[in-house]
Amino acid sequence: MKLWGGRFEKQEDKFMDKFNSSFSIDSRLYKQDIMGSIAHVTMLCKCHIITEDEKNLMINALKEVETEIEENKLVLDGDFEDIHTFVEYKVTEKIGATGKKIHTARSRNDQVATDMKLYVKLSANNVISALKALLDVIEEKASTSNFPMPAYTHLQRAQIVTFKYYLMAYYEMLQRDIKRIESAISIMDSSPLGSCALAGTTYDIDRDLTSSLLGFKEVQKNTLDSVSDRDYIIEMISHFSLLMMHLSRLSEELIIYSSKEFSFVELDDAYSTGSSIMPQKKNPDSLELVRGKTGRLYGNLMGILTVMKALPLSYNKDMQEDKTYYFESLDTVIDCITIVSGVIKTMHIKKEVLSEAIKGGFLNATEYADYLVKKGAAFRDAHEIVGKTVKYCEEKKCEIDDLDLNELKKFTQLVDEDIYNYIKSSSFMKMGTKKDML
Ligand code: ARG
Repeated sequence: MKLWGGRFEKQEDKFMDKFNSSFSIDSRLYKQDIMGSIAHVTMLCKCHIITEDEKNLMINALKEVETEIEENKLVLDGDFEDIHTFVEYKVTEKIGATGKKIHTARSRNDQVATDMKLYVKLSANNVISALKALLDVIEEKASTSNFPMPAYTHLQRAQIVTFKYYLMAYYEMLQRDIKRIESAISIMDSSPLGSCALAGTTYDIDRDLTSSLLGFKEVQKNTLDSVSDRDYIIEMISHFSLLMMHLSRLSEELIIYSSKEFSFVELDDAYSTGSSIMPQKKNPDSLELVRGKTGRLYGNLMGILTVMKALPLSYNKDMQEDKTYYFESLDTVIDCITIVSGVIKTMHIKKEVLSEAIKGGFLNATEYADYLVKKGAAFRDAHEIVGKTVKYCEEKKCEIDDLDLNELKKFTQLVDEDIYNYIKSSSFMKMGTKKDML
């Protein structure tokens, strides 16, 4: 069950055989491997390298293998070196000598690169679909959250925004993630097939044909590069890492906001867990795991970058490690997007707590300064006046709105009765660019 052996006199060491095998990991590529082989033999026939009959035999056998795998009649298991060995072996088992021609003008080096590119393209598009579904969930939640909340810098109360606007910040981040993944798909969209081991082939094959049969935009020209290019895996894991960074920020915030100290939101029971000893506990494990699993992505990114660092051209077996990093990253990202969608869809936003929260912490101080500027003060002077007013309020343990006009006038004569309306959030949220938050 090996694709090589002619020049060997001894059997491979048993543990070496196991160590060398990637089958338990790359069996996931069976569909792409069969798709690639069908395109390859179609092309071999068009280029008169194999006959029409041979092509038909091989394609039928390949399709049978695929169906048998799908119907669980064929198990992806056994002493095979990798998925390529498995498929070729099964095809040859079915059609005998003709099956052995399948690898004409091909190497596992261009084969695995092709399979992986097909898989990464498809799965990255699945990530985009999952992200689009999450965007819909966020938009839907935002449409029912048009009420004010405190927003922070340095985790200190800063100014008022709406909960809707807060959620839509993440909407924009995730939109950028989609664009980045789309761009990576477009950059990687070239076919390595036909590069063979590293130096092409003496056959007049048609690389444009296999490329278009497999849905690639173009042929990846330089064969040394194309069999050893794993940039697209690094780029995708990098974009996934950035996406996870966004999800981890959202998770962290919702964990904080669901604490008793904030109490801005409550997660649904379906996305929380309890404690084995403290009966009262309801913990945001869903979001903590998303935050935690972000570490896996960063680890995988560092891992694959390190695997590729300083590798000489062209193919080296080190590259077989790429799949572990990619598959784990992909699965984690899909799981986390699914969990975050569920959390957001079901979480309860405590409007009453938020409306209390915006009353404290001088959240309208900047708007008061804006008011004074409109009355003729230079902004820097207005800043100073409001700063002093805030200090006075802190000593009196009250908010700016609580001071009467005489007290306010101690700091500036520019202030008038209309200040009280101006610094109400219901008024200033309708002014200037703040209108966008409603
Ligand atoms: N299992 C290998 C991988 O994933 C396939 C390519 C093997 N090529 C070779 N020359 N040994 O990278």
